[in-house]
Amino acid sequence: MPSRLLGFWPQPASSGGSCLPAQKPVAEAVHLAKRFFGSLKPDSPPEADEQWALSHLEAGERLLWERLDNPDRRHAVGVGRAVVAKLGAGIPREVVAAALLHDVGKVQSGFGTLARVGATLVWAVLPDHLADGWLEAGGVRLKLAQYRRHPQIGEALLVEAGAHSLTAQWAADHHKPATAWRIDHDVAAVLKACDND
Ligand SMILES: [Fe+2]
Ligand SMILES: [Fe+2]
Repeated sequence: MPSRLLGFWPQPASSGGSCLPAQKPVAEAVHLAKRFFGSLKPDSPPEADEQWALSHLEAGERLLWERLDNPDRRHAVGVGRAVVAKLGAGIPREVVAAALLHDVGKVQSGFGTLARVGATLVWAVLPDHLADGWLEAGGVRLKLAQYRRHPQIGEALLVEAGAHSLTAQWAADHHKPATAWRIDHDVAAVLKACDND
């Protein structure tokens, strides 16, 4: 899959609590297929996972969490659990919140799984800069732009919600190259590896 598609594909159901290494093409194709079909499942995360996630979020962040749909919550819990498994339970709360809410900006477009697949394919062929102008448009162009710009939208939502700066900055930077990361690079590298999208 071209790198421009990565990060915009629908969320996997769960990362399984581990940070996956880079994969060979066939393994990656199988992985992406599993993610796609996993994202079609409507189930919410198990109650224990839901409570675990909420225990790492503050009041404003919890309101954002409640806006995530079930596949996004399952993905978020998978990333959060994987980050804790890698860095230890004593990591700062805001790091877990960053894992849980890195994709919260996707709520703005309102796209479900199939629409996200379509948007991903659209942005595979259109130049990225179109998204900036389309944020001022209406209809489907606006939604496509909101989906494409979910990192920046997520940062704005998190700042507005009173989230820790690390949590908000990671939402904005989670698809950027490492040279653009503003948070601690060791922490960011684990967040990135555990996101695996
Ligand atoms: Fe993302
Ligand atoms: Fe993600």
